[in-house]
Amino acid sequence: MEHICAKYGDHIVLQDFSLAVEPGEIVGIVGPSGCGKTTAIRSLCGFLNPEKGKVTINGKTVFSREERVNVPPENRKIGIVFQDYAIWPHMSVYDNVAYPLKKRKVPKDQIPKRVTYALEQAQMTGYEKYMPSQLSGGQQQRVAIARALTSSDDIIVMDEPITNLDAKLREQMLVEIRLMQSRLNTTIIYITHDQEAAMQLCDRIVIMEKDGSICQIGTDEEIIKNPANRFVFSFIGVSNFIPVTRREGKYWVETGKGRVCYRDSKPEGYLDDAENVVMGVRPMDIVFDDKSPVKGTIEQAVFLGSLYNYFVRLGDLELRVQRSTLDALGGKEYEEGQQVGLTFLNEKYYDAKEAAAE
Ligand SMILES: Nc1ncnc2c1ncn2[C@@H]1O[C@H](COP(=O)(O)OP(=O)(O)OP(=O)(O)O)[C@@H](O)[C@H]1O
Ligand SMILES: [Mg+2]
Repeated sequence: MEHICAKYGDHIVLQDFSLAVEPGEIVGIVGPSGCGKTTAIRSLCGFLNPEKGKVTINGKTVFSREERVNVPPENRKIGIVFQDYAIWPHMSVYDNVAYPLKKRKVPKDQIPKRVTYALEQAQMTGYEKYMPSQLSGGQQQRVAIARALTSSDDIIVMDEPITNLDAKLREQMLVEIRLMQSRLNTTIIYITHDQEAAMQLCDRIVIMEKDGSICQIGTDEEIIKNPANRFVFSFIGVSNFIPVTRREGKYWVETGKGRVCYRDSKPEGYLDDAENVVMGVRPMDIVFDDKSPVKGTIEQAVFLGSLYNYFVRLGDLELRVQRSTLDALGGKEYEEGQQVGLTFLNEKYYDAKEAAAE
């Protein structure tokens, strides 16, 4: 997709949206509700005609206003699984999965073989004669996946396909989608606002901001290690944001009840020339260290099996700190009401103005 501009009436959702997906790749698109994820894939699939821009699939232009090209959705050969794009209730499982093949005018004698194969991939063999009302929610979604497989040999778009399932089934479906993808080498575009599901499933993740722009594209590791901005930092996992200032060449934590120096020299990644910034730091990267001049008080200590979760009061700030249980057992135990020194590791610095705008 190149320079897509898409709108509903006067409401511009995508300004200048560009995204290239490689064959055989699973790409996740994540972003807050209403940012334009579904709009982007509707433009890709042909359910919405962008104002501007170009859509190319396997080297073939399927949409371009300038070139006056607009291939209808059924000829773009994209398999689609929508959250609310249920399977047809009046058709059996077999007919649901066979339908796209008939529409694509696949020779009749090849249809049974392909339906069988698609059902096998979705682990729904044996359910051919069932009607959708006789299936559980998860089974219906698997039929939808099988149907997507018969709609396309190479591209499947999934828009929140498994949000209706319980946690365990969701987990299982993610594993199945991944396995299916590696067997068939299908290109998958997976849309969700569940960043954890996206990280688990996808080769690359596209993060969209509220305004429809893409703020980062990368592997899960790249995004976790180097979040492009404060929004990405807070979107991926639990985060602490701490106001920090530079005064007289030293670096101070602004607790809201006074300031305390936490570093004498410039921290790595500190923004040049900035006096007021916001430090982003993960719960695992705040370390209890009695020698630190930054003193907080443990307000709450919660044991979560593999880790301890602490809520630490630092002036007006409430910080989330996590320690793995093994660390905690090997070292000192920390109790509610106890004073602790705090040091920060792997911290990121963001413009305080950007932070204030949110
Ligand atoms: N058919 C429509 N007519 C008018 N406005 C629409 C239409 N569909 C979506 N919108 C608006 O476009 C914006 C983007 O919607 P979109 O469905 O693309 O968001 P999304 O990122 O998929 O959100 P979600 O995670 O909630 O599914 C929203 O502000 C929405 O209100
Ligand atoms: Mg959506």
